[in-house]
Amino acid sequence: MDAARRRTLVQAAAVAAGLAPAAVMAGAALTVGLGANPVETLTHETGEWALRLLLASLAITPLRRLGLTVLAPLRRTFGLLGFAYATAHFLIFLVLDLGLEPGLLIEEVAERPYVTAGFAAFVLLCPLALTSTRGWQRRLGRRWTRLHLLAYPAIVLALLHFLWLVKADLLEPAVYALVGGILLATRIPAARRALAGLRL
Ligand code: HEM
Repeated sequence: MDAARRRTLVQAAAVAAGLAPAAVMAGAALTVGLGANPVETLTHETGEWALRLLLASLAITPLRRLGLTVLAPLRRTFGLLGFAYATAHFLIFLVLDLGLEPGLLIEEVAERPYVTAGFAAFVLLCPLALTSTRGWQRRLGRRWTRLHLLAYPAIVLALLHFLWLVKADLLEPAVYALVGGILLATRIPAARRALAGLRL
């Protein structure tokens, strides 16, 4: 199989795998239901999948360096899928929890540190999703690379959001934070190079 075909297949498999949790949630909602508190189930599932996919996106560059070059296009695919789950997560909170009341959202963001962190992570991801196309990459040139450094603080904030909201069992968010910390550490040299360019 030629390289282009292999890349297309890997990409299609990644999109199908990334969308599968949404399909499972929709299937459960239409059949067996989503448990005693469906809004809570949806918030938790979409939040966890957003975080998993953002971390998967962060893992692509180190894996590519290890020789798995076929995975390279998945950085954007997983990033966009993670953003899609984060958007669903935010909208579920805004519409189903807060009844689409902007005042209540402002209150939550101002008063609950974990919501502040989650909201800040989401806001930082928005310009990255909007400029994720090749056209924007070409138009912005080196500024695109610098802009996309925002992915790192966004992931740190998302990890803090999870650590902050858990009241008792810290194990799960701590495992995510450890994985995220290791992946972010691998990106420090590249981030330093891009930031050094900023100071020129
Ligand atoms: C990149 C953006 C975000 C990510 C990756 C993310 C991730 C998560 C994760 C992993 C959880 C915990 C799921 C679990 O307990 O199994 C969660 C819960 C939650 N998130 Fe987010 N989140 C993000 C943005 C937001 C935003 C923008 C808001 C609202 C403004 C928000 C509100 C909530 C709420 C209300 C919960 C449930 C808290 C609870 O059960 O007490 N999140 N999120």
